[in-house]
Amino acid sequence: MGIVIAIDGPAAAGKGTLSRQIAEAYHFHHLDTGLTYRATAKALIDAGLPLDDETVAAKMAAEVDLSGLDRDVLSAHAIGEAASRIAVMPSVRRALVDAQRAFSRKEPGTVLDGRDIGTVVCPDAPVKLYVTASPEIRARRRHEEIVAKGDNADYEAIFAEVKTRDDRDMSRSDSPLKPAPDAHLLDTSEMSIEAAFQAAKAITDAALKNS
Ligand code: C5P
Repeated sequence: MGIVIAIDGPAAAGKGTLSRQIAEAYHFHHLDTGLTYRATAKALIDAGLPLDDETVAAKMAAEVDLSGLDRDVLSAHAIGEAASRIAVMPSVRRALVDAQRAFSRKEPGTVLDGRDIGTVVCPDAPVKLYVTASPEIRARRRHEEIVAKGDNADYEAIFAEVKTRDDRDMSRSDSPLKPAPDAHLLDTSEMSIEAAFQAAKAITDAALKNS
């Protein structure tokens, strides 16, 4: 049974980059669990199936192959939206959480990032981080990311989407997004990527020493 580092937080808080850096620093396996919800949503869309049929969605979720998750293919905004819609379905969550827990047992350890890792998927993880930033800053980072790629983006529209996604993720009855009681809060609003990594590494080192 490997060591688990659980990293949760809202969309665009910087937890993806941070999780990859932390996994690299400890030579642990990394799973972005958002990609499992995205892969399920994309499989439904590609098959022309509805996004509101829980039985069908759960069947797709059970078939998701964790080794074949392609961030580039799954990063489209529309897929994120669809993912957050099917993520409210308990049987979809059960199928994906089973696969995520199996992944979390890898040796020597794993970093899992998502919305419910510290609360539901791996509640016994010795290290739990809740990474956040203000909605304005998250929307600004997303906006800059899109513009940097040479695409057009409207800040106000992105801000509205960030808020909608937060509301949906935080208000669903099954596994809502919230910090675990024993999570370390990391607000990256005023931090560079490097500063956030250093802060997360310090918290992780201290937690591993005490575990
Ligand atoms: O993190 P990402 O934006 O890729 O996640 C897409 C959607 O998947 C989230 O908005 C959320 O609804 C859902 N999700 C979840 N639980 C996780 C990871 C993602 O419900 N552990």
